[in-house]
Amino acid sequence: MKILVVGGGGREHAICWALAKSPKIQQIYCAPGNGGTAQVAQNIPIVNTDFDGLIKFAKETAIDLTICPMDDPLVAGIVDAFQAAGLRIFGPTKAAAHIEGSKVYAKAFMQKYGIPTAEYAAFDSLAEANEYITGAKLPFVIKTDGLAAGKGVIICHTLDEARQALHEIFVDGRFGASGQQVVIEEFLTGVECSVLAFCDGRTIVPMPGAKDHKAAYDGDTGPNTGGMGVLAPNPYYTERIAKECMEKLFIPTIDGLRAEGREFVGVMFFGLMITADGVKMLEYNCRPGDPETQALLPLLETDLLDIILACMDKKLDTMDVNWKNNAVCCVIAASGGYPGNYQTGYPISGLGSTGGVLIFHSGTKAVDGNVVTNGGRVLSVVATADFAPAARSAAYNAMAGLNFRDMYYRKDIGDI
Ligand code: AMP
Ligand code: GLY
Repeated sequence: MKILVVGGGGREHAICWALAKSPKIQQIYCAPGNGGTAQVAQNIPIVNTDFDGLIKFAKETAIDLTICPMDDPLVAGIVDAFQAAGLRIFGPTKAAAHIEGSKVYAKAFMQKYGIPTAEYAAFDSLAEANEYITGAKLPFVIKTDGLAAGKGVIICHTLDEARQALHEIFVDGRFGASGQQVVIEEFLTGVECSVLAFCDGRTIVPMPGAKDHKAAYDGDTGPNTGGMGVLAPNPYYTERIAKECMEKLFIPTIDGLRAEGREFVGVMFFGLMITADGVKMLEYNCRPGDPETQALLPLLETDLLDIILACMDKKLDTMDVNWKNNAVCCVIAASGGYPGNYQTGYPISGLGSTGGVLIFHSGTKAVDGNVVTNGGRVLSVVATADFAPAARSAAYNAMAGLNFRDMYYRKDIGDI
């Protein structure tokens, strides 16, 4: 088979790497790809928003299957566009991806189907939102309705902070169309866990739980990022918690989406908060997480392509999905300044000699045979071992051999 993977981050490199192990695949293309995907796939210079360009390429190249793990194109309807062109693509339709595309919709959906989540209210005007927060218990969380590249969640500790955030959203239009509505919700305390799950619309097969570290600096301080590292399995996601999630959160979500005419085929990302009062759904994403995917795929024993095809054929219930009984630690090497301003184009050294540790490229490009930095998150360093402490030290040992100008990484990934 010929496969096209849409995207160019560490997640897409990990997916290309896992697919390259499948005996059924002859060629993988990655659009636009990066310096790492070029090692296992052929990079194609088409951006993920150019649906016409991607469809034209898929037709001309006789691509058998396209895989889109990115939220922006999914929410914008890439799956519908490919299907309308008679092409096979793995991912949720626009209707199903709406569960991530609108937080107001997601919260109303959770309420309708009795899925435990933070108490909330939704607003489309500054005056009403301001009136509501005057009586709300601090801290609380303001979320813009639409996709906001991870920046649309504001945790407010004071009323002044909240008023300023609402002003920026409604008056300054800081988040554009994404901020025309907001959700204001209760602040939850507990332990976070990311669960990614294969879905065929009816059957849902969760992967091992993962612990993402979203804050930029050690000790969970500093600004929110897309994720600075992952430990999997998440030790807090015990068998008992997994069972509770399946019964009260995951199955009601998949069944609810089907009942709403939004059948979900793809990989669903459940952002969970394990609280003293049970597990609550923080958020849905309509695609696998980054860097969770880089951590989880090295644990997958079953052929990834077989699982994807089973999802698309609605036969996931007939698949045995098996995982290695190991621990994995993924540490992100970022450009100094991320998630704020940073420079790119710096040569990366040490990529050739990392022992058994995997290096998935998050933001790199190949220039004249050299790999240079090309993003905020640059490398995902992924080590697998029998136990978490050994996986952690292997990842950090490998990190010590890597270098680029202004390289920054957290020193406490997996320290939970
Ligand atoms: P998101 O961009 O939706 O993944 O949210 C970013 C982060 O904000 C989450 O990973 C949580 O750490 C935090 N967060 C979101 N909603 C809540 C909440 N209701 N209570 C506490 N923390 C939250
Ligand atoms: N790592 C969090 C996410 O992919 O949304």
